[in-house]
Amino acid sequence: MSNTLSNSAILTALTEALGDDVVSPRERLLERRNADWSGMPGATPLALLRPRSTEQVAQALAICNRFRQPVVVQGGLTGLAGGACTAANEIALSLERMMAIEEVDAISSTITVQTGVTLEAVQQAASEAGLMFPLDLGARGSCTIGGNLATNAGGNRVIRYGMARDQVLGLEAVLADGSVIGGLHKMVKNNTGYDLRNLMIGSEGTLGIITRAVLRLRPRAGALATAWCGLPDYAAVTRLLGEAQRHLSTGVSAFEVMWPSFVDYMLGNVHGLRAPLDTPHPFYVLMESAGGDEASHQQAFEDFLAAMLEAGVIANASIAQSQSDAGAFWRIRDATAEFPILMPDLIAFDVSFAIADIGRAAQQCDEALRATWPGSTVLTYGHLGDGNLHLIVQVAGADDSTVNAVEALVYGIVREYGGSVSAEHGIGSKKRDVLGHTRAPAELAAMRAIKAALDPHGILNPGKVLPSIS
Ligand code: FAD
Ligand code: LAC
Ligand code: ZN
Repeated sequence: MSNTLSNSAILTALTEALGDDVVSPRERLLERRNADWSGMPGATPLALLRPRSTEQVAQALAICNRFRQPVVVQGGLTGLAGGACTAANEIALSLERMMAIEEVDAISSTITVQTGVTLEAVQQAASEAGLMFPLDLGARGSCTIGGNLATNAGGNRVIRYGMARDQVLGLEAVLADGSVIGGLHKMVKNNTGYDLRNLMIGSEGTLGIITRAVLRLRPRAGALATAWCGLPDYAAVTRLLGEAQRHLSTGVSAFEVMWPSFVDYMLGNVHGLRAPLDTPHPFYVLMESAGGDEASHQQAFEDFLAAMLEAGVIANASIAQSQSDAGAFWRIRDATAEFPILMPDLIAFDVSFAIADIGRAAQQCDEALRATWPGSTVLTYGHLGDGNLHLIVQVAGADDSTVNAVEALVYGIVREYGGSVSAEHGIGSKKRDVLGHTRAPAELAAMRAIKAALDPHGILNPGKVLPSIS
């Protein structure tokens, strides 16, 4: 059968089963975005499926599996690893019509959703019920719970509440052959054999399509205390983190570190930002602590920072006196959302190290990059409390070989320290070839065996996550 004939047979089978409001062939998609935020290429797919229910997702996959038709599941397309980018021979499946918030159960502290819902809508629904959904990241308005779970997203509050996987109690997913697994359980404890839920989480659309989830909600913090601190050196940064975890009764809910390269760049290039301190420092920390009672929590936070100032751990600090002050600090940190406009040709890294190593590893990356490409821009920041470093590199006139050389340099340093090539954004197509820097051959073989068992015809997101065998 020629490709064109088989394409038309697949589209006929899908349209007969699902209807033509669910199946849009290529001709109707020419204006659609086919790539995520990673900068990896994407082509207009053969068709776009927009199912309305788990049953329709299951029907679609059963048909595609029969035809050996590759399928790429898409959420909000904010991913940073190329996981949702499509090739011309693939079918895209979007969950944009599966956005229902099915239930908020205030007694069990859970919210049950279809996974096409945005992260922000879940945060809002939780808040309206007097509770909180703690996962938070800059793309909150566009990214979906499906994408968050499929990439096991991290973000700003991992230090207190964990990654996306830590927010999930129950999960429903459709496998490549159309079978539906999992369930909408609300139990915290459920030791019943292999943990398929956690296998799906972080699998980036290569093992199944996550269709619904039961997420854990938390009590809403009565008070949020926030400060922007200037510190003299990296030893002071780790000391501040340790002391804050020990002395603040509720610990820290965010501990974001920014090197001057990042802060100065943002202040100089993003309209409307103001420097929180009038003195320059070698390190800046945006620290937040979520607590109970407003007045006593703020007082304890301010007393703690005064003690840190006295001890020389921090050199200067600006303590937010209102939500608007805190918002102004966070706007500097969240200005990363401006990168596509400010620096469309950036080379971005999302790596992790032991917290003790980050200061040295970051300095090594920065010095080596600047020495090799004089005049390059290197911005350094990260979720330091989780050992997660982001590096943004821009080399004027960089071609593919420069990009490869920049990546080889940074990933070489990651390997030297026994770090991870992806802390939170995932592997997708972008980091496939360096997965072996972080995972042993036996682990890659185990991953391939799992993929072959659950998706024997390799229809789900082919070419993503697992490196090809040479
Ligand atoms: P998409 O980009 O559409 O897809 C991502 C991957 O998940 C793809 O492989 C796709 O195939 C798969 N997928 C999507 N939906 C499903 C599903 N239902 N079932 C199975 N597979 C699925 N990430 C962090 O971890 N921390 C951050 O702090 C952070 N900040 C960000 C800030 C900005 C401004 C941006 C643009 C991105 C940021 N990200 C961050 C990246 C992050 O991975 C995504 O924002 C988000 O988790 C992806 O959700 P999405 O719905 O856009 O997924
Ligand atoms: C951030 C994204 C890029 O933390 O993960 O800004
Ligand atoms: Zn991040």
